[in-house]
Amino acid sequence: MKELLPGLKQQYGVNLTIANAENVAGGLGLTLATADELFSAGVDVLTSGNHIWVQKEIIPYLDSEMPILRPLNYPPGVPGRGYIVFNNQAVVINIIGRTFIGNFDCPFRAMDKLLAELGPKPAVIIADFHAEATSEKMAMGRYLDGRVSAVLGTHTHVGTIDAQLLPQGTAYVTDIGMTGPIDSVIGDDTDAVLDRFLSMMPHRLTVGKGKVTFNAILIRVDEETGRATGIERINREVG
Ligand SMILES: [Fe+2]
Repeated sequence: MKELLPGLKQQYGVNLTIANAENVAGGLGLTLATADELFSAGVDVLTSGNHIWVQKEIIPYLDSEMPILRPLNYPPGVPGRGYIVFNNQAVVINIIGRTFIGNFDCPFRAMDKLLAELGPKPAVIIADFHAEATSEKMAMGRYLDGRVSAVLGTHTHVGTIDAQLLPQGTAYVTDIGMTGPIDSVIGDDTDAVLDRFLSMMPHRLTVGKGKVTFNAILIRVDEETGRATGIERINREVG
């Protein structure tokens, strides 16, 4: 991120940079130091998912001024927030799916409720949908088509080839992918993951080593209408 992001932001004239950071602290969770590293690399807003609670030190900061989100549709009373209005420029929302991931509150109805509460400006609304099932993510994209600027999937760490503009003007991709080691199983050391699958015993996972893939999605949005006008995938390798 440190090596690539500043140059890419300049090259593409990026106004807002969002990163899902739920696994940046050695492969699991988010710490204050790793959050700060991402902010200094040029990330504006951090989204997350089911792993946001793993490093307990970050939990108090979820209620601070820091632009770090946890999924909106956790049960009421959970620390942190599920959306942020960034710089009066865009609303960034984090939601989490339920299929093969957990019994969260309904993400579809949570979005209905939030969109009803939001004012007309800013018109730009970006949703990170942190979910396992491709079908649930596509369904959300279609459900929110024309109501938000973008629905971008995260959680699987495997980028999909379906970046597209939906009919009513929402930019959509099933999964952005990850920034992490290529020689790995979704970022984790291959041998450790294979041990787990072959023995069915719990093994401590460690982050893979070597060359790193950087997966990103670039969206262009009309700031007046909130409609997306372009979406493209940006992939790089480092190391
Ligand atoms: Fe996740």
